Amino acid sequence: MPRFTTPRFALIAIALLAAGSAAAVSSATARPKEPTLSASAKRGLTVAQARCAACHAVTPNAPSPNPEAPSFDDIANREGLTAATLRGYLRDAHNYPDAMNFRIQRQQVRDLSAYIVTMKYPGHKPAI
Ligand code: HEC
Repeated sequence: MPRFTTPRFALIAIALLAAGSAAAVSSATARPKEPTLSASAKRGLTVAQARCAACHAVTPNAPSPNPEAPSFDDIANREGLTAATLRGYLRDAHNYPDAMNFRIQRQQVRDLSAYIVTMKYPGHKPAI
């Protein structure tokens, strides 16, 4: 009876989803709960996914698609890096490596910097 197949399918789907998220959690064991992102940081994540994710890993615990590009997690945890130093870097297009030949608006620079510093984490181990 179709009335019964639908809920059963839903249960299997839920079980699969739960298994998937359990795996995601266990690969991030050492890291504290994801921080609640400010409105600016949320916009920054959206910009990062649209503009940066072709080369950089933009969320923690993932390898960068372009092995030459450090993950945002690693960038966030560099010694001495703050939202302000990051803004300075991102505002000055001359700082960009050739691979990153693009322009981003000032508001996007603020949002990206606000987002990236949310990945600061004292126990961070750089991938490279
Ligand atoms: C086409 C590929 C590409 C894209 C797209 C890209 N990057 Fe990069 N980025 C790189 C590479 C490669 C490096 C490392 C270059 C180096 O260290 O000389 C880098 C380095 C950086 C660094 C400096 C890291 C350091 O070594 O201090 C920052 C910050 C950065 N990128 C931010 C961004 C942001 C923000 C975006 C999106 C708005 C972005 N990148 C998009 C390829 C890219």
